[in-house]
Amino acid sequence: AKQPVRVLVTGAAGQIGYALVPMIARGVMLGPDQPVILHMLDIPPAAEALNGVKMELIDAAFPLLKGVVATTDVVEACTGVGVAVMVGGFPRKEGMERKDVMTKNVSIYKSQASALEKHAAANCKVLVVANPANTNALILKEFAPSIPEKNISCLTRLDHNRALGQISERLKVQVCDVKNAIIWGNHSSSQYPDVNHATVKTPSGEKPVRELVKDDAWLNGEFISTVQQRGAAIIKARKLSSALSAASAACDHIRDWVLGTPEGTWVSMGVYSDGSYNVPAGLIYSFPVTCRNGEWTIVQGLPIDEFSRKKMDATAEELSEEKALAYSCLS
Ligand code: NAI
Repeated sequence: AKQPVRVLVTGAAGQIGYALVPMIARGVMLGPDQPVILHMLDIPPAAEALNGVKMELIDAAFPLLKGVVATTDVVEACTGVGVAVMVGGFPRKEGMERKDVMTKNVSIYKSQASALEKHAAANCKVLVVANPANTNALILKEFAPSIPEKNISCLTRLDHNRALGQISERLKVQVCDVKNAIIWGNHSSSQYPDVNHATVKTPSGEKPVRELVKDDAWLNGEFISTVQQRGAAIIKARKLSSALSAASAACDHIRDWVLGTPEGTWVSMGVYSDGSYNVPAGLIYSFPVTCRNGEWTIVQGLPIDEFSRKKMDATAEELSEEKALAYSCLS
């Protein structure tokens, strides 16, 4: 039998945490034959709620769940974890300046980076979900220099899945038949959802999305803004931000990273830029990637038209500014 993997979820008493931990305990993240031990971290004001989540996990009697650690101690939370999903963070409240929110998150990610570096299992894979996700991941990377940069990522899979969902709705095809959308850049409204290389499986073979949709104005306009603004639309409808879709996307992200992407399919992940596609090196930027043997590789050589180039540069520009702001909060 396989040894259990310890999976850390920070902010586990929150909304996404509540949707995510049962998925992990059911094997949605690491597969139906991989036992897990859940490590849940939150802050003292949420300790009682966190303990309630632990009680429910016990009550759910998940066969794959071999243990639950619920704690407000970051060292205990990080010890021995092979996967870390960082959902905890400081939300932007009404009237708060961007810089103040950034200062709070920079200090959280700086200290959690050190704890992971010292106490996580070797080769621990880290996924940052909490916003600003790309920049939080960058801070984590900078303050955990012994964790290889290829092990630190941020979540843009939700945006990727939203793009697939919009195409599937528009064409009235199954979402599982749509693939190879790309989210470029920041997990923010400056992201560029790109379907220039996306395809749909049809009875007569794989067809480009553009050829099937036959409406460039929609693809270059409303499609992009719908995906960019989907988070806000969910908040408007639910009075709460996306949680089940975010949790599901976090499972997709880790599952594909660990178990591999299907042949001929790529997914979007926020990863450390090596300068591919002329994206400035040293940003955490969402790229199309394939995964094999537990490692991601940026898909190379895709032709980029002028329209795409501008949008890819604009979101890179925003990330450079966020990076500068984050550094200004450190000093
Ligand atoms: P939430 O407010 O319901 O939960 C956040 C939890 O984090 C709370 O329980 C809070 O006590 C905890 N927390 C705060 N500081 C912490 C710390 N230092 N250590 C550990 N835990 C801490 O928020 P929700 O809805 O679960 O969202 C979580 C984050 O995910 C937010 O930053 C949100 O913006 C982001 N998000 C990102 C998405 C993505 O696609 N990348 C999608 C949806 C949300």
